[in-house]
Amino acid sequence: MTNNRPSPVGIMRLINGYWATGVLAAAATHSVFTHLEHGAGTATELASRAAVAERGAQALLDGLVSVGLVELHEGRYRNTPEAATYLVEDSPVSLAPFARLKLTHTGSLTDLAEVVRAGGPVKDDAVVEVANNPHWEGIVTAIAAQSVPAAALAAEVLALADAGEISILDVGGGSGIYSGIWLETNPAARATQLDWAPINEIALRLLAERGVGDRFTTVDGDFHTTDFGTAAYDVAVYSHIAHQESPESNVEVFTRLRQALKPGGTLVVNDYVVDDDRSGPAFPLIFASEMLLKTRQGSTWTRSDYRDWLVKAGFEDVSFHTAEPATLVVAR
Ligand SMILES: C[S@@+](CC[C@H](N)C(=O)[O-])C[C@H]1O[C@@H](n2cnc3c(N)ncnc32)[C@H](O)[C@@H]1O
Repeated sequence: MTNNRPSPVGIMRLINGYWATGVLAAAATHSVFTHLEHGAGTATELASRAAVAERGAQALLDGLVSVGLVELHEGRYRNTPEAATYLVEDSPVSLAPFARLKLTHTGSLTDLAEVVRAGGPVKDDAVVEVANNPHWEGIVTAIAAQSVPAAALAAEVLALADAGEISILDVGGGSGIYSGIWLETNPAARATQLDWAPINEIALRLLAERGVGDRFTTVDGDFHTTDFGTAAYDVAVYSHIAHQESPESNVEVFTRLRQALKPGGTLVVNDYVVDDDRSGPAFPLIFASEMLLKTRQGSTWTRSDYRDWLVKAGFEDVSFHTAEPATLVVAR
């Protein structure tokens, strides 16, 4: 009878899923992926380069093999292609800072069952959509790497390199990652970011470091109440914001963004978008719990939701472009 039972291993891995978060964050903290990339191939070599105990290095390597981020090849450890691309430090797409950040969020999940019962956050300090929330200061640089592929894809879809003297509005731009990439792509473009003042200060510093600060300006304020202007921009972007907002708020913001765009202008929305029947993709589906935990009305919205809201806001043409695990919604 026991032989007919399915294996419990998958469920054991899920129950202990926090081990993966911990091992990955500890490895990122000790730059393990960077040391492996630069030639460390054994626990002894890793311990020496990372200045950690050899017992600790061996446990981390075992854990990383277990979760599929490191592989053994003829007795030596090496990064998988994914780890080499996304977990080595000092790369624009490095998710190592995000891995370290997310470990600090794991405690909040002990509230999830109660949050599910209540239908929203049960502690006021869990809610992210409040004015000038210091939460964003810790997060915007750590999440910037996730937007790099989406911003690069949008630059291609919109042919920004050849678009000439365009003006761009980035609402809730955070670290200024879209403006940074797009201003580098198009040396005649100018960008304006609307965000809270402390966040704009971070973006101003980072864009000056990228050498495009002379074409970047910021507006401090709440995007629910700050005027976006009229027929002022060729391109607007709203990335990883729609999931924190209600459907009504998204329609309202998209309507003002349509007004802020010149005739023929383009709105780019980037977010974790789920299929209309909510059968996938996997990452946006599970992100709905993050929004339940941290927002009063946010969720991961479907393609139909975005299409309906954008049409209500006055856009005529809506297309979807995959930038895994996110989706770009391009509206004209
Ligand atoms: C998840 S981050 C996204 C940052 C950036 N767009 C990206 O994709 O990397 C959300 C950003 O929206 C900003 N934000 C959230 N609510 C806001 C509001 N009501 N007014 C202005 N900015 C807001 C936060 O400060 C933060 O920079």
